[in-house]
Amino acid sequence: MVHLVHKAHKIDAAMGTIPVDPLWWQTLFDEVYLITDARSVCNEELTRREVDFLVAYMRIGKSDSILDLCGGHGRHSLELARRGYNSTTVLDYSGVLVQLGKAKAAAQRLPVSFVQGDARSAGLAAERFDFVLVMANSFGYFQDDHDNLQILREAHRLCRPEGRLLLDLLDPGYVVEQFKPFSVHRATEDITVHRKRELTDNLIRVRETVVSRKEGRIRDSVYCERLFKKDELMSLLRQAGFDQVGFKSDFSSHIQPGDYGFMTRRLIVTAVRR
Ligand SMILES: C[S@@+](CC[C@H](N)C(=O)[O-])C[C@H]1O[C@@H](n2cnc3c(N)ncnc32)[C@H](O)[C@@H]1O
Repeated sequence: MVHLVHKAHKIDAAMGTIPVDPLWWQTLFDEVYLITDARSVCNEELTRREVDFLVAYMRIGKSDSILDLCGGHGRHSLELARRGYNSTTVLDYSGVLVQLGKAKAAAQRLPVSFVQGDARSAGLAAERFDFVLVMANSFGYFQDDHDNLQILREAHRLCRPEGRLLLDLLDPGYVVEQFKPFSVHRATEDITVHRKRELTDNLIRVRETVVSRKEGRIRDSVYCERLFKKDELMSLLRQAGFDQVGFKSDFSSHIQPGDYGFMTRRLIVTAVRR
């Protein structure tokens, strides 16, 4: 087990009482995340259901080129490749997840390309993809919308003309309705995840403490996610060069009722590159 205790180093009292390091997303997504979020991101049946939805909802063809932006260890792309979609690329910042995805693709002989990089400036050729997919609450990590917009601008640059973007986001209505200031989740026999949450106007902050029975506290970190109203998303997408923006509320890929944190109910947003 890797021992990681992240120290938040920027406190902005005016923005809430839980201090958030603006670069939290650069360190959170590692081996510990694969345990704390396993119910959602290491559940193959759930990933298959999400891919069923993606393929049908976006009408993705087998020869279409797909970018799985902020794609983590590539669970959607690996499943797409298993189904014969043979032009998928995963881009993610996390070296741990990119290496894991690469190893899985090699072991299963699946044609998925993995690239480590920042979604604000991916370093990939322009107009290369028919679809850009941003799955599982991977957008809205920046408190400054200038950076969130930069991801959309980059998605626009990477899409072919008439290419389509899908964002799978936190559903702000659900977050507010179901808000729980504290939760405890037993991730494994050994590991328990404690979450303390704070909701301000358009941001949710979470302090996550991960405790191992055997090893004690193995993580203490803080992350945040931006809650977008539909008109804010519309405006950001238009500024980035997309139109035909569509929304689908109440998206859930979990079959068993339960509290899966931010992944319980989501907002699907689609747009077409101008
Ligand atoms: C909640 S995970 C979801 C991963 C994947 N989409 C899935 O469904 O399993 C969010 C992912 O976004 C990635 N990420 C966050 N900000 C990023 C950025 N600026 N550039 C590239 N990847 C980023 C993280 O490294 C992490 O793997």
